[in-house]
Amino acid sequence: MSEGADRIAALSAAQKRALLEEMLREKAAPSAGAAPNAGAALAAGAEARAAGRGGFVFPAEYAGFARAFEDSDDGGAADLFFQLCEGVNASRAMVSGRELVNFCSYNYLGLSGHDEVSRAASAAIERYGTSVSASRLVSGERPIHRQLEGRLAALVGAEDAVVFVGGFSTNENAIGHLLGPEDLIVYDSLIHASIQQGAKLSGATVLPFPHNNLAALENILARRRGAYRQALIAVEGVYSMDGDIPDLPRLVEIKRRHNALVLVDEAHSIGVLGGTGRGIGEYHGVAGSDVDLWMGTLSKALASCGGYIAGTREVVAYLKRTAPGFVYSVGLSPPDTAAALAALGVLEAEPQRVACLKARARLFLDLAKARGLDTGASRDSAVIPIMTGATDRAVRLSKALLGQGFLALPIGYPAVPENKARLRFFISSTHSEDDIRRTINAIGNCLEQIDQ
Ligand SMILES: Cc1ncc(COP(=O)(O)O)c(C=O)c1O
Repeated sequence: MSEGADRIAALSAAQKRALLEEMLREKAAPSAGAAPNAGAALAAGAEARAAGRGGFVFPAEYAGFARAFEDSDDGGAADLFFQLCEGVNASRAMVSGRELVNFCSYNYLGLSGHDEVSRAASAAIERYGTSVSASRLVSGERPIHRQLEGRLAALVGAEDAVVFVGGFSTNENAIGHLLGPEDLIVYDSLIHASIQQGAKLSGATVLPFPHNNLAALENILARRRGAYRQALIAVEGVYSMDGDIPDLPRLVEIKRRHNALVLVDEAHSIGVLGGTGRGIGEYHGVAGSDVDLWMGTLSKALASCGGYIAGTREVVAYLKRTAPGFVYSVGLSPPDTAAALAALGVLEAEPQRVACLKARARLFLDLAKARGLDTGASRDSAVIPIMTGATDRAVRLSKALLGQGFLALPIGYPAVPENKARLRFFISSTHSEDDIRRTINAIGNCLEQIDQ
């Protein structure tokens, strides 16, 4: 070691840090020939270290955003997020020892916490352990994976299916891998972040169309489709912020006319839409083979964790053999796989759960409208927003409801435009009619007080 290095090694951690910062400050002074932003970047790095951010530079807007999560008495939303809840997340939530009527869970059919589903998960742990401890390609494959994929494919009327370890990563992996820079992705402007991430990863040209405006979609395809190798249209079965449903039959016509492919994200429609909960295909009477990629999550009605893509045998085989997020990732865990499989069994055996969910959601919507509340575009689904306009009004409503024993969280800017803030209510088949009536009453009364 040189003498200089020896001296540096002998310094305390704090002395080393001070020295490093001094060196960075010196380097930060732009010198002739340096890249124009190098000095500023180095200065930002030093500033970040000084601020205790572990050397990372965060976006400038983060400072304001982070304040929303910090405790304060200024009427902010800090105490509404990251609340510690106990027990199963269903129509009730236990928060700080209080039992609240809960509208923040997408346990649509009450299957998380269902005895049969919990027992299946425990039995899978007994038999296979808590992890399959390998990629499915190399010793991670278990019989329950194949059973689950077969059941999911049959549910939506596709030839085959593949499950990934997360719903979000399913979209990232599948879209990011199936599309490339020579391709076009046209998605609804309200599409979920996971689809946007997948589109970014693919390198394809991305063109959003205004929400549910299929004329605008068709216009984009008419003008731009010809310049690309393949085109993917991506929509949701039920939009997760608004609770509305796209016109799938018309979408299928459009995709045929323009030689495009279509992906439907059924995160909030599988187990919810259609007479027996088979999703938007059943709701609209669209055949499974009319949609190229049926995507869904296991984390909502199916009481587990993970996601799936169902489609043709060829596309599923391609993803299983080549998608990095499948090949280089562990197989879905035994309890998650078994829980989803058991949830599908209960869904099939007890379609009355789907009917009950529909009735509760209908009651919520009808009572809300009768009370003069703005439910936006929600229809026929289990996602119902109460539109408040300003973010501040949404935060105040959420807090007032919390005070009265109801849990529903505000969604404001930047998740939605500033004038479209709302409280989002997820309805579950386990809510009682009385829960719904009391909730609408409380919302109406709280809003009257807030607006006084
Ligand atoms: C439309 C949509 N797609 C994908 C996801 C991601 O699913 P998961 O939470 O299972 O990762 C969500 C999650 O809320 C969603 O709403």
